[in-house]
Amino acid sequence: MKELPNFSSFDDQTRPDCAVIALHGVTREYVGHAGAVRALSDATFSIVAGEWVAITGPSGSGKSTLVNLIGCLDRPTSGQLKIDNVDVASMSATELDRFRADKIGFIFQQFHLIPYLSALENVMLAQYFHSMTDEGEARAALEKVGLGKRAEHLPSELSGGEQQRVCIARALINNPPILLADEPTGNLDAANQEIVAGLLKDLHGQGHTIVMVTHDPEMAGLAQRRIALSHGKVFCHPVGGSPVVTLRR
Ligand SMILES: Nc1ncnc2c1ncn2[C@@H]1O[C@H](COP(=O)(O)OP(=O)(O)O)[C@@H](O)[C@H]1O
Ligand SMILES: [Mg+2]
Repeated sequence: MKELPNFSSFDDQTRPDCAVIALHGVTREYVGHAGAVRALSDATFSIVAGEWVAITGPSGSGKSTLVNLIGCLDRPTSGQLKIDNVDVASMSATELDRFRADKIGFIFQQFHLIPYLSALENVMLAQYFHSMTDEGEARAALEKVGLGKRAEHLPSELSGGEQQRVCIARALINNPPILLADEPTGNLDAANQEIVAGLLKDLHGQGHTIVMVTHDPEMAGLAQRRIALSHGKVFCHPVGGSPVVTLRR
């Protein structure tokens, strides 16, 4: 891949006043017995409400670290991260749990469904952790992803594509404004990839902000903007796909 200058040295492409996700100098270091690893280095960028952004980069480049930070599953070592204009550092662990449940829906490559719960119960569990269960709504969410007839099935009785659709129903059940997807089609065949891509397109059309890690150029091509990572450094591509060229210096 052609080396691009670090995005931190550029003007932000987006309007920070509309940002639903805003990072300023965000660094995440992991400290282990073998020393410190800087998994994300001085990331500065914003994502506006309703945007669909693809995060790309080779294995080990910091994609999951970035997604975990945006998803409030982790906190920066330094720098400022704001989600919906709230500084994540200002919240206690309990407040952060509540905030995450309200704001973010997660779609994982490995699905992370509870194996002994049915599709319906998996979706209802997300309702339970958020507020209260509502079976009718959970069934409607499964119907929306084409799984109305599979509600009582266990994950092991569903194909990979079906499990991912349960995951999408679960991510959406509490109507979060932000959807975070880490390789949502990584384990799917072409037909199911198309179904999931179609669902993401619909969700984007309905106004959700989507941040999606993907290795797949076709999936990345669906997004409006690409944020590429290399060795923990962020390189931003503007809408339209060509490299950013507006130097601030
Ligand atoms: N918990 C951790 N402890 C130590 N190093 C980690 C930890 N998580 C990730 N890393 C390191 O941080 C870097 C980025 O990892 P990751 O964000 O998982 O990359 P990607 O998702 O792009 O494959 C890698 O070098 C990885 O080994
Ligand atoms: Mg990863």
